Amino acid sequence: MIAKKISRRNVVKYAALGAVGVTIFNSAPIALEFITPNPEWPLPPGQVRPGATRIVSLSELFPGAFITYKFNFGRATLIGGLWFFDEKVSHQRRDVVQGVGRDISGGHNENIDVPEGLVSYCLLCTHLGCIPKKWNPQTGILTCPCHNGLYDIVNGAAVVGGPPPAPIPEIKLEGRGGDVWAVGWKDINYVKSLDVYRNKGVV
Ligand code: FES
Repeated sequence: MIAKKISRRNVVKYAALGAVGVTIFNSAPIALEFITPNPEWPLPPGQVRPGATRIVSLSELFPGAFITYKFNFGRATLIGGLWFFDEKVSHQRRDVVQGVGRDISGGHNENIDVPEGLVSYCLLCTHLGCIPKKWNPQTGILTCPCHNGLYDIVNGAAVVGGPPPAPIPEIKLEGRGGDVWAVGWKDINYVKSLDVYRNKGVV
C-alpha cells in the first residue's frame, strides 16, 4: 500500500485549520455569554453576582477560625466575616432599628444546618462605613481601624466602644452539601434602618 504523502504546504494548512477549530471551541462559552441577554454580565472587576454565596467548606473550619468573604445581596458587593466558636454565641434580635441601642443581642439562631458556634456579620462599620477587620480572638472584639469602633462578636456584635451607633448586621447562614453559604440578611429591615447602609446604596 502506498501511503498518501502529505505535502509540507498541507501540513501547515491542516495545522492552521486545527488551531482555528480549537479557538472556536474554547471561545464558545464566552461567545454565548455575549449573545445571551444577561444584564449581570460582565460584572465589573471585584464585583460579586447578587444572590447566595458559598463561603467555605465545613471541613475547612475549626473552632477559633475567622475568615472574610465577599457577598452581594442586591445592590453592592460587600465583605462579610465568618467566625466559628466552640461555644454558643448570642445572635441579634429581629425587629429592631438603628437608635434602639448599641446592643441588640439575645435573638434566636436562624442559621440552618450549620454548627451552633458559626456566626457571620457584615464588615461595613455603622459609623462611617470603614471595614472593621481587626480581630482579637483573645478578647472576642472586632475593631474598626478608622475611629476605634469596637464590636463584641460573641454577643450579637454589640458596640462596646467607639462611635458606631449600632451593631453591624448579622448575615444568615445555611449548610448546603457540606459547604457554608451566606444566604441573606438576618433582618433586612434592620439593615434598611442603618444610615450608612442606606447612604452607600447597600439597600
Ligand atoms: S468608621 Fe468605623 S469607627 Fe468610624
